[in-house]
Amino acid sequence: MNDLTPIVWSAEFSVGVPEFDRQHHQIIDVINRMLASRETSPHSETVSDALDELSRFADRHFKAEEAFLTERNYSALEEQKASHQLFRRRTLELCQMALEHTSSTPSELLAFVRGWWVRHILEADRRYARELGLLPG
Ligand SMILES: [Fe+2]
Ligand SMILES: [Fe+2]
Repeated sequence: MNDLTPIVWSAEFSVGVPEFDRQHHQIIDVINRMLASRETSPHSETVSDALDELSRFADRHFKAEEAFLTERNYSALEEQKASHQLFRRRTLELCQMALEHTSSTPSELLAFVRGWWVRHILEADRRYARELGLLPG
């Protein structure tokens, strides 16, 4: 039951901070590229390279978001940090598994990455957007 359909950006994903929306967009683009290329290049090296790129974007984004939320004294800051940390740890594990060829198939890996980002943006990130009054209207 792995959902491997491309992620379609909509207004629902906006967190009301243009810089973060841009970064989320960039991350979704990488994930969609990974999803699109899985048929043609299912090799673990390719998956691992893409995850590597994704990790770099993700890391930069997590740092920016955490700094912003710290500055605003966001009430669920610790949950945000823990969630980001879980993604970092799991991605490292999955990269390692892909390199050692003990993977979980690339489909499972891609489904994890896709699912984590969609849920994280729509639930955790949208929560700070609402609580900090960043959304229009
Ligand atoms: Fe976040
Ligand atoms: Fe985010």
